Amino acid sequence: MAEIGVLGLGVMGRNLSLNLADHGYRTALYNRHYHVTEAFLRRCREQEPSWRRLQGFREMEDFVDAIERPRRIVLLVKAGEATDLTIENLLPFLDPGDVVIDCGNAHWLDTIRRERELRRRELLFIGCGISGGESGARFGPSLMAGGSREAWERIEAIWRDIAAKVDPETGEPIEGAAPGRPVSGGEPCAALVGENGAGHYVKTVHNGIEYIDMQLIAESYWLLKHLGGFSNPELAEIYSRWNEGELASYLIAITARILSQPDPRGDGYLIDRILDRAGQKGTGKWAADSALALGVPANALAEAVFARYLSSRKDERLQASRRLASVPVGRVDDPPGWSEQVRHALYCAKICAYAQGFQLLRAAQQEYGWRFDFAAIARIWRGGCIIRARFLNLIASAYQRKPDLANLLLADDFQSALHQGHPAWRQTVATAVLNGMAVPAMSAALAYYDGYRSERLPANLIQAQRDFFGAHTYERTDQPGRRFHFDWVGGKRETVVE
Ligand code: 6PG
Repeated sequence: MAEIGVLGLGVMGRNLSLNLADHGYRTALYNRHYHVTEAFLRRCREQEPSWRRLQGFREMEDFVDAIERPRRIVLLVKAGEATDLTIENLLPFLDPGDVVIDCGNAHWLDTIRRERELRRRELLFIGCGISGGESGARFGPSLMAGGSREAWERIEAIWRDIAAKVDPETGEPIEGAAPGRPVSGGEPCAALVGENGAGHYVKTVHNGIEYIDMQLIAESYWLLKHLGGFSNPELAEIYSRWNEGELASYLIAITARILSQPDPRGDGYLIDRILDRAGQKGTGKWAADSALALGVPANALAEAVFARYLSSRKDERLQASRRLASVPVGRVDDPPGWSEQVRHALYCAKICAYAQGFQLLRAAQQEYGWRFDFAAIARIWRGGCIIRARFLNLIASAYQRKPDLANLLLADDFQSALHQGHPAWRQTVATAVLNGMAVPAMSAALAYYDGYRSERLPANLIQAQRDFFGAHTYERTDQPGRRFHFDWVGGKRETVVE
């Protein structure tokens, strides 16, 4: 009998199945089109050492029957309607106590609904965020599970086995897994983060941070390239160097690799031939939507999503570039000094990106009744996922020391990094602006930082305007706890509003 079943053999399903098999799990496989299952198993026989642990089925009923009870069935199908349809088709074959684990990029509200519906039928449901793309699924992803403790206990050992691992001493990811040779030991990047939709929510925030991080790195690349005049090999060298320090992360590492890749179709570098129109599947927007809905000032997140939208309007931008006034882009006098400035700006802005992500988690746990362990979330993001980064160790320790920390900006390590880096960050944003270069995420993050640390903001004027045109009332600094309205047109009377 199989110990687990995987339903859906797209890229993620295939790779997760191989990961399970590598860890010794007998795995039943099912795909809507049987020829996909056949082709996958044929390839496995030729290339994969652990293929014997995989068994494919043509009929859904046979697939379900082949799994030992109570069953564990992983869904890796398209998020949305396809997931609902798959669950509906699966239901007649399931028995009470079976657990269904949705590893797609589902919206957390769908997961909350599905968990409730399945619970009514005495079935367990886990919505599990999975990050790390194809190679993560194959050799160790970061796994963010949401569901009941009972459901989690049924998959915990497997999840810990197949997840990415970090060195417990250094907190660095342990690499080196290969087909048939999984990484052993280390701290697994898998955890139950909360009930029902919590896992998918945490994954959505992960993706929101991913969007900001990517946008910030893209802005830094543009500033170094145009104002610093660095060539692609020089840029690759800079990012490789940055990857040795506090910015060390998967996204910085792949940026260095990308920038040094020659164009396979001709002279020059591939990066210079890639169209500057960013795509998106929508999870960054979900995170930004949620920030707006929950009243969290995640402006860098919103800007990162908007920047993708703006980039996709390539034709409009082309027209506008010929018609709208611009300034000539200059060159800085001291390129090495400039790259240091940009590095500080990137790090400071990155701190704000994570601060905004964790603020979002904080607001969401109130809204949905979850109780997040922020340190644990930071820990499972240290390996396997797209935003894995050395500084998540600092975030984990900050929350471990102070679980109710109001904002990551206030953690000691980040306070001092911001103290040291903010002059360079300001200089970087100012230089970009004066040279007509858009740095939406870097400048939004700076506005967030400056706004957050301001005792007073010009919101007094906004309150006055609201009171002027709509009698929306205001509070006075010298009379706390009471609301007032002023007769702005008559100019005489201020009344206390009860
Ligand atoms: C991950 C990623 C992944 C996501 C891609 C594409 O953690 O492995 O977040 O889940 O699908 O990054 O996202 P966009 O198409 O929206 O950029």
